[in-house]
Formats: sequence, C-alpha cells, structure tokens
Amino acid sequence: RMVKRYMACRNDIHRHDAPFIAVFKSLIPAEEELEKQKQLMAKLDNLVAKEWPNAKLYLYGSCANSFGFPKSDIDVCLAIDDDDVNKSEILLKLADSLESDNFQNVQALTRARVPIVKLMDPVTGISCDICINNVLAVVNTKLLRDYSMIDGRLRQLAFIVKHWAKSRKVNETYQGTLSSYAYVLMCIHYLQQRSPPILPCLQEMEPTYSVGVDNIQCAYFDNVGRLSTFGSGNRETIAELVWGFFNYWAYGHDYANTVVSVRTGSILGKREKDWTRRVGNDRHLICIEDPFETSHDLGRVVDKFSIRVLREEFERAAKIMHQDPNPCAKLFEPY
Ligand code: GTP
Ligand code: MG
Repeated sequence: RMVKRYMACRNDIHRHDAPFIAVFKSLIPAEEELEKQKQLMAKLDNLVAKEWPNAKLYLYGSCANSFGFPKSDIDVCLAIDDDDVNKSEILLKLADSLESDNFQNVQALTRARVPIVKLMDPVTGISCDICINNVLAVVNTKLLRDYSMIDGRLRQLAFIVKHWAKSRKVNETYQGTLSSYAYVLMCIHYLQQRSPPILPCLQEMEPTYSVGVDNIQCAYFDNVGRLSTFGSGNRETIAELVWGFFNYWAYGHDYANTVVSVRTGSILGKREKDWTRRVGNDRHLICIEDPFETSHDLGRVVDKFSIRVLREEFERAAKIMHQDPNPCAKLFEPY
C-alpha cells in the first residue's frame, strides 16, 4: 500500500527523463575504446595460438556484457579443453610469454580464489586479467548481453543503477555490498516483472542455445533479434523505471522470505531453495539467484551490517526519486 501511495503522487516524473538519458549517454564507452579492446584481444589471441593451438580466449564481464563503463579493465578467460589442466602451470607459462611480448606489470596470482594473470598493455593502456576455464562466466556474460539487446531500457537502467552503486560505495563485494553482476540481474528481474513486461524470461522459452558447463546445462532462447518489439506494450520511461526500481528495493521487496530469480522470471520463496538460515558464511539476507548456478546466491556476500547500509541507500534513492526537485543530481552525490 505504501508502495502504491509513493508511486502515485509524483506527476512530474517525465521531466526527469532527459537528464537521466544524458547521464546514461555520458557513461557509455566511446567507439575508439572498444576498438582498443579488440586490438588487445587480437594480440592476446596470437600469443595464445602459438603456445596452445587448441585453446580459445573469451572476453567476459562488463567489457563484453554491454554494461561496461569507460576505462574499465577487461576480463578474459582462456578456455583449454584438457582433462588434467594444471592451472598454475599454465598461468606461469602464460605470464612468461606475456613478458617476452613486452606486456607490462605481468603478475601470475596462482593462489587467489580465482587464479589469474594480470597484465597491462603499453600500446592501448588497457589492464587485463586472464583466468582459466571460467566458462560459466562467459555464458552468463552472453545471457546479460542478449537481454540488453531486447529492450534499450535495460541498458539505461543498469548503467544508472551501477553508477549510483559506485557513487554511493555499495558496489564493493569485499565490504559486503553487491557486485555489478548482481545489480544487472536485479535490473533484468525488475523489467521482467513490469506489467506488461519489458523483458521476457529467456530461460523459460524454447532453447536455441545450449551448452553444458561443469554438470550444469545452460540453455535459453538466444534468438533475441526476434524479440525486438517484446517490450513495446509497456511505455514506461527511464525516470519512472529508476523510481520504481528503488521503490521496489526500498519498500516492496520481502527480504525475509523471497528470492529474485531471472531464471524463472519470478519471485521464489527462500523456503523452496533452503535459504532460510545461515549456512557457513552465507546468510541469505538479500537473495539473488544466479541464473545458471542455481545454488549460488549473489547476495551471499551481504552481512548484518552491510544489509543495513544497502537498505538505507535504497531508501535514500527512493526518497530522492519521489520528492527531490532535481533527482538526477542528488542520486549520484558521492557518499
Ligand atoms: P564492473 O567491473 O563493475 O564494471 O562490472 P562487471 O560486469 O565486470 O562485474 P563483476 O566484476 O561483478 O563481474 C565480472 C563477471 O564475472 C560477471 O559479468 C560475471 O560473468 C562473473 N561473475 C561475477 N560474480 C560472479 C558470481 O558470483 N558468480 C558467477 N557465476 N559469476 C560471477
Ligand atoms: Mg569487472
């Protein structure tokens, strides 16, 4: 009821579409930056082809999912089809070749949770992390990118939410707040829930794409060119959606009992996932189901302190969207 009342009383919201669109446009990377990324990938492809002719490099994360900010580092996955890959060995060998090829700041982090090689390309100035066989990340990157091609409002909303999260310091997983990946999933879910919906649920449709990754079958409808008018029955604009998104996470979401699920395009109960109590370090205080690794809660990093920080920030954002004369400026004020 509270939600409805909040949503109903601002009638000047459309005046704020233009400023939000302007923020969005200022955040998308320029074409020449994407060119530089391609240039670096080509160089790395060559190097890898010499050492491992059967391996392949994939971009993943924000540089490939269409939700990347300018000047972000790029994430690369080296896929090697070999039953007994010794990741440390490969990473050390890769680091050697990179150094002889004049890459800078080359560092093999073989004992990290996700072992990687770090490098900086002196020609383009781009920094890059290379991991091995993290194929799920490559597949969920494709899922996000496919969703972004269905309706342009997803990209607008997700850039604005990411920019807000970075400005307000609630995009820091090591401090118990959420990853960019989690925020994008929250945006997709929100747009699936609009009525009429702005996004479909690709994993509930007849699959046109299917890969098996470590015992998980990842399948969904990826022929998104066919869905370019899917959201056209819904006329909501960006300012309304930003408002509705924050309103949902401030006042509408049932944190105690529910899980948001892009996989099913719906809200699930914590009970059915057995996410009702703390297990180890996973407290499940805000639950966001990974679309493929369904036992994985992207809210697992959130603890009893950071959940308060997050919810206060959602409420702050919702209030600004509800009543501030210039919400677009206020929303992104640095924390
Ligand atoms: P920014 O670097 O903040 O712009 O965003 P990003 O899209 O690169 O996001 P992030 O650094 O959070 O994650 C990079 C990629 O790793 C994501 O796009 C996912 O593909 C993958 N990833 C991140 N976190 C998880 C996770 O908890 N589980 C899984 N399966 N994949 C993840
Ligand atoms: Mg990243």
